[in-house]
Amino acid sequence: MQLGFIGTGEITLSIVTGLSSSGVAPHSIWLSPRNSAVAHGLANRFHGISVASCNQEVLDHSATIVIAVRPSAARDVLSELAFRPDHRVISLVATLSLRSLSALVAPAVRIARAVPLPSAAKQLSPTAIYPPDPMAFELFAGVGTVFPVERENEFDAICATTATIASYFAFNETIASWLEEQGVPASQARDYIARLFLGVTTGAVDAPKRSFQSLAATHATAGGINEQFLKHLVERGLLTRISEALDAVLHRIGAES
Ligand SMILES: NC(=O)c1ccc[n+]([C@@H]2O[C@H](COP(=O)([O-])OP(=O)(O)OC[C@H]3O[C@@H](n4cnc5c(N)ncnc54)[C@H](OP(=O)(O)O)[C@@H]3O)[C@@H](O)[C@H]2O)c1
Repeated sequence: MQLGFIGTGEITLSIVTGLSSSGVAPHSIWLSPRNSAVAHGLANRFHGISVASCNQEVLDHSATIVIAVRPSAARDVLSELAFRPDHRVISLVATLSLRSLSALVAPAVRIARAVPLPSAAKQLSPTAIYPPDPMAFELFAGVGTVFPVERENEFDAICATTATIASYFAFNETIASWLEEQGVPASQARDYIARLFLGVTTGAVDAPKRSFQSLAATHATAGGINEQFLKHLVERGLLTRISEALDAVLHRIGAES
């Protein structure tokens, strides 16, 4: 696959690392020159990676273009580029709808949106793609598990759920800090909480037919401490706040696209 990336930041670093260390079919990869440290770091570390002198050179050498610049830069960056009709374009910009994207990358018509995660570096990214484009599927299957989506509103909703990750870490930090206050050494507290949730998450991935509610019920023995903790949070409206925050993020994605 002849791949080009416009935007060489955090997510490109993760995808290219994941692809290049997966040991499957080699990719020819062209990277845009900003950020130079990341681009040259990848080119020095892996075979088949070149750093272009400008964004247009990435397009000129590539068949599939991944758009990975920040939402605030995307329209300006794309409007300066000359796409070919045979280019395939995969946008990672959450706030650009397929319709907006089509106008920006014309005359290219084979366009998809994707939402990979930094866990792509370890080939563990769940990546939603819309529409279910075979090229996007092949690319992101190399760095994790692909979730093809038939409707754009569903794709946007999945994008919204990726906004929960920082809060997940904040939740873990609160628990680990509390543990530290009880006298557990900081590094041990952090490692314990990370592994507590690693085990729980692995169990959920291994049992795809079980709802999270059913898994919660398994842990929340009647009268036990899990039930007590969950009840405390539910009674104070914490879970309702989560749904409200997701609504707000989804609204923003829709408004900006
Ligand atoms: N990070 C994630 O987990 C994630 C997941 C899914 C989707 N996304 C989406 O992917 C996109 C990139 O996210 P990111 O986290 O990788 O952001 P990032 O780390 O800020 O990377 C964006 C890169 O674009 C570069 N850039 C800025 N202007 C440019 C231009 N005119 N031409 C070429 N490159 C330019 C920046 O260079 P400088 O450093 O020099 O400014 C930066 O290195 C965003 O739209 C984001 O919403 C990110």
